[in-house]
Amino acid sequence: MTTSALHRALTEQGDPVLRPLPAPAAELLLACAAPPRLAAHLRAVHDVAAQLLDWLAERYPRLAVNPVAVLFGAATHDIGKIEHPAELSGPGSRHESAGHRLLLSYGVGEEFARFAGSHANWDHPEASTEELLVSLADKIWKGARVPDLEQLVVERLAAAGDEQPWQAFLALDDVVGRIAEGADARLAFQARYPTVAG
Ligand SMILES: [Fe+2]
Repeated sequence: MTTSALHRALTEQGDPVLRPLPAPAAELLLACAAPPRLAAHLRAVHDVAAQLLDWLAERYPRLAVNPVAVLFGAATHDIGKIEHPAELSGPGSRHESAGHRLLLSYGVGEEFARFAGSHANWDHPEASTEELLVSLADKIWKGARVPDLEQLVVERLAAAGDEQPWQAFLALDDVVGRIAEGADARLAFQARYPTVAG
């Protein structure tokens, strides 16, 4: 029996080394027969979110953040693209509300489902730290830098670390720069997988 491209996207270990998705997220993607390209994208963003969380635990241990929610959110944020596959390779926001609904329909609680609807809308005052981190991971996985988004994260870090914003800015800039160095390998990994199931 040949292994499906989706299964390979979820399990491949090589270049780059990407952490496996949380089991409930991987099971959902298999149950929905997700496009392999989507699973590969979610692994790339999830791995970046995990790198950010590792760094935060070390550098900002007092930052109030639920790492399990961030990891699940990163692992499922684009799941609505199962229903809107054209948005895998083109622009569009219909996947956002669709993904939120899909997760809720599978019994995922709002605390874990919200990222699918909010990952593109980080620029509002009620955005949680978890939501900002998922949105940030969804940018820096491919090396994209969004100063306004990073500034919002800097404000949370400065408050948690009891330090000046410029100190938190330098700290975040350093780790984001290091993570962004892996962008080419992640982009190549994602591009190896087809946008249609099979
Ligand atoms: Fe994404």
